[in-house]
Parts: sequence; C-alpha cells; structure tokens
Amino acid sequence: MGIHHVDEINSSCLLLSRVATNDGHGENSSYFDGWKAYDSNPFHPTRNPEGVIQMGLAEHQLCLGTMQEWIRKNPKASICTEEGLSQFKDIANFQDYHGLPQFRKAIAKFMGKVRGGRAEFDADRVVMSGGATGAQETLAFCLANPGEAFLIPTPYYPAFDRDFRWRTGVQLLPIHCHSINNFKITETALMTAYRRALKSNIKVKGILVTNPSNPLGTTMDRATLRTLARFANENNIHLICDEIFGGTVFDGPEFASISTVLEDDPRLNRDLFHIAYSLSKDLGVPGFRVGIIYSYNDAVVSCARKMSSFGLVSTQTQHLLAAMLGDDEFTTKLLAESRRQLSRRHAVFTSGLERVGIRCLESNAGLFFWMNLKHLLKAATVEAELELWRVIIHKVKLNISPGSAFHCSEPGWFRVCFANMDDGTMEVALRRIRAFVYEANERGTTSAQTTKNKKRFDRTLRLSLPRRFDHDLMTTMTPRLMSPHSPLVKAAN
Ligand SMILES: Cc1ncc(COP(=O)(O)O)c(C=O)c1O
Repeated sequence: MGIHHVDEINSSCLLLSRVATNDGHGENSSYFDGWKAYDSNPFHPTRNPEGVIQMGLAEHQLCLGTMQEWIRKNPKASICTEEGLSQFKDIANFQDYHGLPQFRKAIAKFMGKVRGGRAEFDADRVVMSGGATGAQETLAFCLANPGEAFLIPTPYYPAFDRDFRWRTGVQLLPIHCHSINNFKITETALMTAYRRALKSNIKVKGILVTNPSNPLGTTMDRATLRTLARFANENNIHLICDEIFGGTVFDGPEFASISTVLEDDPRLNRDLFHIAYSLSKDLGVPGFRVGIIYSYNDAVVSCARKMSSFGLVSTQTQHLLAAMLGDDEFTTKLLAESRRQLSRRHAVFTSGLERVGIRCLESNAGLFFWMNLKHLLKAATVEAELELWRVIIHKVKLNISPGSAFHCSEPGWFRVCFANMDDGTMEVALRRIRAFVYEANERGTTSAQTTKNKKRFDRTLRLSLPRRFDHDLMTTMTPRLMSPHSPLVKAAN
C-alpha cells in the first residue's frame, strides 16, 4: 500500500489529528518532481555526465575542507578520538537545556564576528534549537496564537510555510516586493499588507524578514531595516530577522544586522526584536542541526529555552563547536576563506551567464543568485514559468528553483545555487545553460515573439521534453512549495 493511500484512509477515518493529515509540510507537493528528476538521474562527471545537476540546494560546500583540517589538527575537540576520549562520559551525560556554557559563549562570540564586531551578543540569550527550522517554529509558538499573522516580504524561503505555520497555526501574509526596485521592501508595500490584514480582521503579531535574503542573495540596507524596526515599534508588533546567511556576505555593502540597528537606537523597544540563526549556511553544517534563537526579550528567552527541550543540539556537537568557534584565529581564517570562495564562484557564474544575455539580480551574499529568464517565457504567467522550469530540469538537466515556489509575484525568476558543487560541475552547468539559451535565441523565443514563433517554441518544447512530460504531467506538476529535509532527498534547502 502506498503512503498516499494510507494517508487518505487515515484522514477519512479521522484516525489522526488535523495537523498530521493536513498538507502543511508541503512534501506531497509535486515540486518534488524536480528533486525526483535529480535523484533518479544525478550528474556525475564520469559515471553519469548526462545526469541532472543539483542547483536547488543552498548548501555551502566550499569551506568544508578548511574545517576538516581544523578537526584533524584538534583531535581533543572530538570525544571519539584517543585524545578526546577522557571527556566522553561528561559530554555524553550532559543534557541541560541551557546548553554547555562554553558552547553558548563561543556562539555569541561567533555571531558578533559574523557581524563584523559591530554588535555584541550575550551568551545568556543564546537558545538552542534544531536548526533555524526549529528556531522559526519556536519563535512562532512564543509570539503568536493560531490564526494570528506575521507579514513577510516576497519572494521568501518556501519552507517558512512549513516551519512557521504548519504546527503552530500561525499565518504568513505577503508584503509584495517587485523587481522595479530590486525587490526592496517599501513603506507603501508594508502598509498595504498591514492594512489588508486588519481589514480582514487578522491580528498581525509581527514581521518576518530574512537578511541576507534567500532567494535574492542581497543584504537589506540599513535604512530599510530601520524603517521595519520603527514600524514594529510604533505598532507594538515583533520583528524577527532570520540572519542565517549573515556569514555569507562576500561583497559590499556590508551586512547590517538588526543587532546593530538596535545598538544605534535606544528608543526601540527591545522586547520586540528576535534573531533566528543557525550554522547550517555560514559553516555549511546543516547536518549538525545547530539552530539559535537570540531574543532581546527576557520572557521569550525563558519560554524558548523551555521549548528547546524538543530540539536540543547534541552535546557532542556542542562540545566540538565550542572548541572550533572558540578558536579566534581559525574563525577569522574560515570566514575570510568562505567570502573569497563565494565571491569567486559567484563572479565566474554570473559573468558566464551575462555573456549569453542572462541577467541576474545584483547580489552580494548567500549561496545562490536570482536569475532573470523573463525573456525566455512564452507569456508573463506562472504557467509559462513552470513550463520553462520543466524544460530546464528535463532537457537542460539542471535542477534550479522557479520563483513561484518562493511566492515571487513576477514570473520568470529562478534561484540558482552555486556553492554545493565543485568547479568542474559548475563549468558543465554553465555550458548547458549557455547552449540552451543559444538554441532558444536561435529559434526566436525572446519576449518579442510573434505568434508564429510562439507556436514554434511550443513545438520545440514538446519535441525536447521526455515523453512522460509531454502531456499529463506538464499540466499537473506545480511546485506549490519547496520543502526541505524530505526523506526523498538528501537535503533540499
Ligand atoms: C532563510 C532560511 N531560514 C531557515 C532555514 C533552515 O535552516 P536549518 O538547516 O538551520 O534548519 C533555511 C534553509 O535553507 C533558510 O534558507
């Protein structure tokens, strides 16, 4: 019996709860067809050079070697080595939900360093969670009741729909942002979203932003951050800043964290401000599940700490990271190396695309860029975006992510991850995109197409699609939600 069948039976018999049987996780989304395409035919330079290249994974693999080297040189930091084994009993027994004091201290120090030393963090406010995923859910539980809402600028990280909403019943309401001003949040857009919620009798409890942005790869400017902070202050609502990509800023302008805005403006009510953080991106260790809630509100710190029992970071991991992040010289070297690698990779990739007329949103952070393929759409619609996306997956054999999965209000944008592969794979990916664009241009598929060209484009797509995607699937596959951590895939965030 298939899993879906079991779900149907369970839900029709009301055997399980509403949370267990609703689709809040998003895993049953057909978006996973993209992942399945990769999983069933993964690229390998020699064993499967025609396979699908995974570019939908915001994973930082460019500095893992530097960390490995540190671990090799510091065997005492691991409890499973001859040198560290004497610590085994103490570490294996420790389960206090405050966490190892040396771990919280090292995290607070590292958070300050990622923000260029412009803000200080108090180790007593560092609360652990199972990745930033857990941090978001805990914050939602602490700050809002079911049915209440947070405003969120679009495009946004798709799994917020799961992390923030699924089990808490909290809503996310979009603040629509547009390419005309590089997707910056304007006061007008913010007010529109706020008033719309009030008009619908929805209580707005706060704003959730990601800075640097996933999927845009941009840092929020200080003025916008100040506007958001003041708006939250004036309306007595919360501001959560997800700063999980804080250490990936590889180019100017420098990263302005909400922590520095708070330090500059003593009039802001600190009880309203919270940071969600994790080591998944900055260190590239999502498997460690190190998430951090850093709240300026004492009651939230206290409640989140109690809730953290549901998602503690293993003490073994805390022990290792306390030593690693406590090594000042090493973290300086690691962050510098990370920036250098990301900057280089980003430059090679985006300039390679520019040569075939593909523009990307100018960006300075993150493990991805936001690629504009509007000119290759048959029409300015989500359907046309998804049609192009399917061709890119199944013909060009690149698993990139369509903007509609990020709730982007303009069709034609795609998120391309660039730090989860080696240089050789990146070259192959670039070659494939270039070849595809040349071909598309030759066939006259720019936005100024005539009807004749459009027909020809349709025919070309149909001819180039695998048979299985020719008919039914073309209309049924819709990437409603990208959901990370699926058992279907190794990782998908
Ligand atoms: C903006 C954002 N927040 C949170 C997460 C979840 O991260 P973690 O692996 O730490 O749970 C991700 C992962 O991609 C993300 O992009």
